[in-house]
Amino acid sequence: MAYIYSDVSRTFSEYLLIPNLTTEKCTPNNIDLGTPLVKYKKGEESSLKLNIPIVSAIMQSVSNDTLAIALARCGGLSFIYGSQAIESQAEMVRKVKKYKSGFVVSDSNLTVNSTLKDVIELKNKTGHSTIAITDDGTSSGKLLGLITTRDYRISRDPLGRKVHEFMTPFSKLVVGNLGISLSEANDIIWEHKLNCLPIVDENQNLHYLVFRKDYDDHKQNPYELLDNNKRLVVGAGINSRDYEERVPALVEAGADVLCIDSSDGFSVWQKNTLEHIKSKYNVPVGAGNVVDREGFMYLVEAGADFVKVGIGGGSICITREQKGIGRGQATSIIEVASARDEYFKRTGIYIPICSDGGIVHDYHIVLALAMGADFVMMGRYFARFDESPTKKVKSGNGYVKEYWGEGSNRARNWQRYDLGENQNMKFEEGVDSYVPYAGKLSDNLETTLNKVKATMSSCGSATIRELQETARLTLVSSTSIIEGGAHDVILKEKEY
Ligand code: IMP
Repeated sequence: MAYIYSDVSRTFSEYLLIPNLTTEKCTPNNIDLGTPLVKYKKGEESSLKLNIPIVSAIMQSVSNDTLAIALARCGGLSFIYGSQAIESQAEMVRKVKKYKSGFVVSDSNLTVNSTLKDVIELKNKTGHSTIAITDDGTSSGKLLGLITTRDYRISRDPLGRKVHEFMTPFSKLVVGNLGISLSEANDIIWEHKLNCLPIVDENQNLHYLVFRKDYDDHKQNPYELLDNNKRLVVGAGINSRDYEERVPALVEAGADVLCIDSSDGFSVWQKNTLEHIKSKYNVPVGAGNVVDREGFMYLVEAGADFVKVGIGGGSICITREQKGIGRGQATSIIEVASARDEYFKRTGIYIPICSDGGIVHDYHIVLALAMGADFVMMGRYFARFDESPTKKVKSGNGYVKEYWGEGSNRARNWQRYDLGENQNMKFEEGVDSYVPYAGKLSDNLETTLNKVKATMSSCGSATIRELQETARLTLVSSTSIIEGGAHDVILKEKEY
């Protein structure tokens, strides 16, 4: 007979935290949100740690290079989506690794023989009004001039006019030498009243542009997640089919950590993938997703450096409806965390676990951590921000952004949802949707982290480890859920 669990499976909103004694040592300013990302031995430190317990989902509509840069600058990490060509994914990883605070690789470039029409078209496409003119039209060619909107008048100049006739030529440009610091670049910008300073090497090849308007944005961020060479840290999603080609390209591009991305990770294909990578490379690899002790142990024994937990809880996910598989996210985390703790006791090896999907309120992050997760992965949360790759669309008086699942037809991510053979996806496991537009990542994340720290402070925990060890959770009845929101009052309209 089939095995039937005696307990129901539960999700985050069915739990609340009971406060513990708050003392001076756990006021919000004293809370450390650092957490391990990959496995480590008792008494040692994890070789890769996050400064905040948050990563962004391996999704086309979430984790590209711009989001990865913004999140790593705030202390978290993105896994660049794998449902794209190997070379374009590797290029995104490269862009994050090359990023230098305040130094922008020019993405609007033309040659001297381009025309005003090309300038206007490029400006409309990229939205950038500063265009670098290089010998080969690339971002790293020999710099021959610069064009801004001050160099031409659309109403007067013929569209066929050649760029070399109206650009500011190199001889008249103020440039910085490769190797100068951001504050030196900024001094030159102020001294010469510039809007943009190109940075070139000794052969006049262009490397970066530094913009006056960016300076305040790029002052050092204390949480920034950096590798030993002071480059931002970035991860990348992989699948269990083309790893022999994809992994070397990602490693070569500089990916710090990989994660096998699947809605059901309890499979022999994940084991094969892990074993292959472990035999050839030195890069840490996470695996998943699983929802129970058995799935967790299988991936750990196959060599996973962390394990991702969650099936069916994602906001765009219809796996439970389509396939009838899944488990409440809270129950999944609690069971896997207890397996992880037992494994640690037995072997002295700590395997971090990631709670993936279904975070709706900021306090759900603290619940997931209190239940034993070491960090959380979120998709919907990040899709709402300027830095996510999707379109911002006007809706009523406000804006929304597009957000679609990796199992939707739109993402056509065959590898994630098939069973390891060469069959096409026969049905969808995700939807295509909108989420409310919310502005800049750093502003929103700051509010979220303030709330996370306030909750941890109430729980008497100065670290995530303390929270995992001492938090007290209670189940709530459906009537007390109603009591938790504003009730029995007439709410006023919000004034903005
Ligand atoms: P969210 O933060 O609740 O939006 O959940 C994001 C998570 O949903 C991702 O990290 C994936 O684990 C999962 N996911 C992404 N796309 C799909 C899909 O199409 N179907 C089911 N789950 C998905």
